[in-house]
Amino acid sequence: MGEPLQADAWVATALGDPTKVLERQTVEVRPPGPNEVRVEVSTFCVNFNDTDIVRGRWTTLPLQPPFVPGMDTMGVVESAGPGAEHFVGRRIVGIPAGAHGGFARHAVVDATSAMLIPDWLGDVEATALHYPFHLSWFALLERAGLEPGETLLVHAGAGGVGSAAIQLGKAFGARVIATAGGPEKVAFCKELGADEAIDYRDGGFAEAVVDATFGAGVDVCLDTVGGSVTQETFRCMGMNGRILLVGYAEDITNDGAPLNPAPAIYGNFGLLGVCLAYAADPLAHRMMTGLNWPSRASGVEAHQRLLGMLRDGDIRTVVTSTVPFDELPEAMERQERRETMGRTVVQLG
Ligand SMILES: NC(=O)c1ccc[n+]([C@@H]2O[C@H](COP(=O)([O-])OP(=O)(O)OC[C@H]3O[C@@H](n4cnc5c(N)ncnc54)[C@H](OP(=O)(O)O)[C@@H]3O)[C@@H](O)[C@H]2O)c1
Repeated sequence: MGEPLQADAWVATALGDPTKVLERQTVEVRPPGPNEVRVEVSTFCVNFNDTDIVRGRWTTLPLQPPFVPGMDTMGVVESAGPGAEHFVGRRIVGIPAGAHGGFARHAVVDATSAMLIPDWLGDVEATALHYPFHLSWFALLERAGLEPGETLLVHAGAGGVGSAAIQLGKAFGARVIATAGGPEKVAFCKELGADEAIDYRDGGFAEAVVDATFGAGVDVCLDTVGGSVTQETFRCMGMNGRILLVGYAEDITNDGAPLNPAPAIYGNFGLLGVCLAYAADPLAHRMMTGLNWPSRASGVEAHQRLLGMLRDGDIRTVVTSTVPFDELPEAMERQERRETMGRTVVQLG
């Protein structure tokens, strides 16, 4: 299983603005336990949730400082605990244990989330495959059961998750309408394949969506924004529509509440929660935590199908910026200010 390692890391020394509370320190990274691997990190993505955790406004995963944030990682497995030995020496992308610890040169990763990366896929591209595409796959196919010919509305379509959802929606045969903040992002959504893209920065998208669906409303909406955007979405859902509640970037201080679900009753559409993390044994996980997580087997199948689509050119990972490890806090700030598109990948060099 190995010994503890000393690693260069970004540490949240307090809860607050990442540019103020993140500090570069050398930390001890423990050896991997059962069904865990320790990774020599090459790259990782900047996730919106990382900022939420550092600011202390995400009650799903409240962490007390000091801690190393970072909820995804890419690299080579240098050691493994019992049950995960087969990963040693392999390139993987995965979720660090406890969904934090990734902002470091070494990270302990839950092997249940570890996905093998083939040689033909570079580290930067592979890093951008994990959350956006696995999450969108799970949400669109497994939660919403999106069918070819249906209409899909993707909010924050130019973002990390949104840019994957647009592409997968098109690949699954849906007609895709995207929303995004500002003309550059709207144009980017079109580039990614959206049939229509609407600037929702000042609200008022529901009417345009209803018009674009000839009055019917959409079948599925992938919503990572929450708040006023979710409430307005209620006005453009079609009969038997499904809203995928994936995140609440707008509304994070409320952790998604309060949301008045009454329009779902009168509108005959459904609200579907989406949480993506894989469990080796979903029933055991449910009994221990009360949470329903999909199985690792379903994640591995999704991963293989996604790799096939990538190789065949049906989808592409969307990396618009790569930054050195030194510049992580500024990269987080840009995402929080809504200045980023697709994924920002941090390279450790
Ligand atoms: N459920 C799950 O398992 C799961 C897992 C991972 C991530 N997520 C969620 O997925 C969402 C997207 O994550 P990401 O890393 O890909 O982020 P991202 O989409 O790259 O960035 C967030 C985007 O949200 C939009 N936004 C709308 N209102 C905002 C506000 N008030 N402040 C900041 N941004 C706002 C912005 O796009 P516009 O400028 O176009 O509006 C912004 O670019 C997050 O909400 C995250 O919590 C959920």
